[in-house]
Amino acid sequence: MNSFSTGESTTGKVLIPQNRLQERVSELGNEISQAFAEKDLAIVAILKGSFIFAADLLRAIKIPCSIDFMGISSYAGQPRSGVVQITKDLDQSIGGRNVLLVEDIIDTGLTATYLIHTLRQHQPASIDICALLDKSARRIIDLPIAYRGFEIPDVFVVGYGMDFQQQYRNLPDIAILKLNGGPKTDVILPDQAGNKSGS
Ligand code: IMP
Ligand code: MG
Repeated sequence: MNSFSTGESTTGKVLIPQNRLQERVSELGNEISQAFAEKDLAIVAILKGSFIFAADLLRAIKIPCSIDFMGISSYAGQPRSGVVQITKDLDQSIGGRNVLLVEDIIDTGLTATYLIHTLRQHQPASIDICALLDKSARRIIDLPIAYRGFEIPDVFVVGYGMDFQQQYRNLPDIAILKLNGGPKTDVILPDQAGNKSGS
């Protein structure tokens, strides 16, 4: 992948190339298909960050399932609270169904914990998490990730649906973000990378 640049930021090293992403998503699809065979599977994907992952995962799942989306964004001024603003709620009922919550990345775990709490109020039969990336070094709240694509180090990543200030979602690989004028290293802490709104 060529380096992409938008003013103050540039993409650095590719962390996960698109062929690895496709392989792993296909494996996850097989695992999920086996685990939910004979079950009423309701996929709930979290916008915006998971939209590309969810689209690929859905096609790798070989059993009947539905998909719905929840849109969220962080409240400005309340970083790390785990409280997110719901910008789009579910269209269909998940009551009594087996929900698979599809997320791009679990970082502190606050967002996913909040979402699970919200989804439980609809009384689904079960809720499992499927996250493409797991940045477990930054976890604040422990939560079980039933289906995990990749464990990644504490770096800020973009591409394959994930953004920095709404840019870079269109990159086919997952790359590490560099802030221009920032540290010379590729390792950028999310705090340095600014707010994460947009999810
Ligand atoms: P958490 O609440 O800290 O677990 O953060 C969850 C959300 O923050 C993720 O679903 C992403 O939308 C966003 N996020 C966390 N780390 C990154 C990153 O490295 N790149 C892009 N978005 C991120
Ligand atoms: Mg997200």
